Amino acid sequence: MNPRDPDSPRRLLDEIRRRAADQDTTRAADRADRARRTAEAGRLRREAGPRRDRRGAHGAAAGRLAHRMRLPAHTAATSVLKTWYPWTMDPGLGVPGAYVGLDLYSRASFLFDPWELYRSNVITSPNGLVIGEIGSGKSSLLKCLIMRFAAVGIPFSWVDVKDEYTDLAAGVGVEPLRLGPGLGVRLNPLATVARHPAQSVVEWRASLKARRLALLEGLIHVRLDRPISMTERTALELALDSATGQLRGGARDELAPASLPAVVANMTRTDTWADELRERGITAAALLDESRDARLALHSMVTGALAGMFDSQEDNARYLDFDAPGTIVNLHAIRADQAVTVMSMVCAQSAMEAELMRPDARPRLVGYDESWVVMRYVPLLLRLQEQFKLARLFGICNLLAAHRLTDWETGAAGSQAARLARGLLEDTGFRVVYRQVDAALPLTRDLLGLTDVQTHLLRWLRKGCGMWLLGTGAYVVQHLLSSIEHPLVQTDSRMRGRVGVDDISDEEWDLLLDAVQTGASS
Ligand SMILES: Nc1ncnc2c1ncn2[C@@H]1O[C@H](COP(=O)(O)OP(=O)(O)OP(=O)(O)O)[C@@H](O)[C@H]1O
Ligand SMILES: [Mg+2]
Repeated sequence: MNPRDPDSPRRLLDEIRRRAADQDTTRAADRADRARRTAEAGRLRREAGPRRDRRGAHGAAAGRLAHRMRLPAHTAATSVLKTWYPWTMDPGLGVPGAYVGLDLYSRASFLFDPWELYRSNVITSPNGLVIGEIGSGKSSLLKCLIMRFAAVGIPFSWVDVKDEYTDLAAGVGVEPLRLGPGLGVRLNPLATVARHPAQSVVEWRASLKARRLALLEGLIHVRLDRPISMTERTALELALDSATGQLRGGARDELAPASLPAVVANMTRTDTWADELRERGITAAALLDESRDARLALHSMVTGALAGMFDSQEDNARYLDFDAPGTIVNLHAIRADQAVTVMSMVCAQSAMEAELMRPDARPRLVGYDESWVVMRYVPLLLRLQEQFKLARLFGICNLLAAHRLTDWETGAAGSQAARLARGLLEDTGFRVVYRQVDAALPLTRDLLGLTDVQTHLLRWLRKGCGMWLLGTGAYVVQHLLSSIEHPLVQTDSRMRGRVGVDDISDEEWDLLLDAVQTGASS
């Protein structure tokens, strides 16, 4: 400090203040750094958890062993073990059947036979539903069921829309029936279904008429993309009755065969319906006028993209051999819009059903792969419902495949389509659920009555792994493919460069054909 400088004391004071402030900042920075390091060390400790070794974790209340016990392995019968592990040890169905794969909970073989399960009162209906996301393994399961049941003499009937059953057909010695423009195959979707001895003549006629009307209404609905009106329905009913000779007054004892061209031709023959029209209070001109669209829609079935395919006037025995190990109608050659695909699919199904529902027919698997496309149409749902009801009578197991149940809940909640779809679902005795996306889970849980745990599990199921809901039981089953089946079920081999049908050796083909032929003759 300079005694002669008057500012010197003030400057000294400033200097002291500045140095004090610097010291505070440094100390504060040190404190903050220490706190950060302590927090980081704490986080690492928490993440690593308590220190542990062979005797368990260190620390208070960690349940640490004084020394490790060495116990001999315990062996017990499953009857005892199931009381110890009541939710994991399942007694199984105890019903014989075709091998499907591995029950993932019990590690036992999972067998399935809808007829045996029905006889054992495990299921109350032989019809089943398979749902799952794209590529989850639905068709592979259906294909394997076809092959495994064919080997024990149970035939199958399938409509192949995607041309994915051709290799399998070759494997089981079946020639698919190919439908398409110029291929010369003509089916009759309105062919007569034989009367079952358990049906009275009146019941049989009523069910046949309901079936045919549902198909005709469905075709019009699909073509016009709207539900059919009451007047159109009346015109259709009168044309059908007229074609089958069942109009009042002119009623025959025998039903005349019905066909699409016959119904189309009768839709304009109003002179034969004079009494019926008078009774309904509608003139022939009004009926013709208001049913024009429906008439034209049906007409397009006989003359349009599907001309020459579904206009046969006979039954379908000429083309469909039901004594063969199976029948496949292949629709791949029909290339048109979605409506035409749906129409051809239901017509082919109907033609097949008419032929296979014979009182003397063997039990049979009938597949409705890609069935989700018909779920929007009330008449087609009604047709399926009728088919489901008859299944028990004729010993048929119907198998429906769809992506998710939201396909079934089309239209407003509580709409007729939604109600019918729920009814159809209730008519299924067994359901196989493959992987489902999150958005589909709530509805799947509600409609199938799943628990939260089961619902959660559906999200994680791997390819080929499905939850089988049979009666009151649920089984998580990994469907296992044999080396012969694997190439035959491939639908993505081109994408993944995997094995294809060319990888099956001649010996394996012979083995498969032998098994099916032995089954068919047994
Ligand atoms: N159990 C399985 N084990 C191994 N691979 C399987 C199994 N099931 C299916 N796959 C494979 O997954 C692919 C798709 O299967 P699949 O065609 O059966 O699915 P999808 O559910 O019918 O599909 P989409 O909804 O498109 O019809 C096939 O190529 C098949 O090889
Ligand atoms: Mg499929």
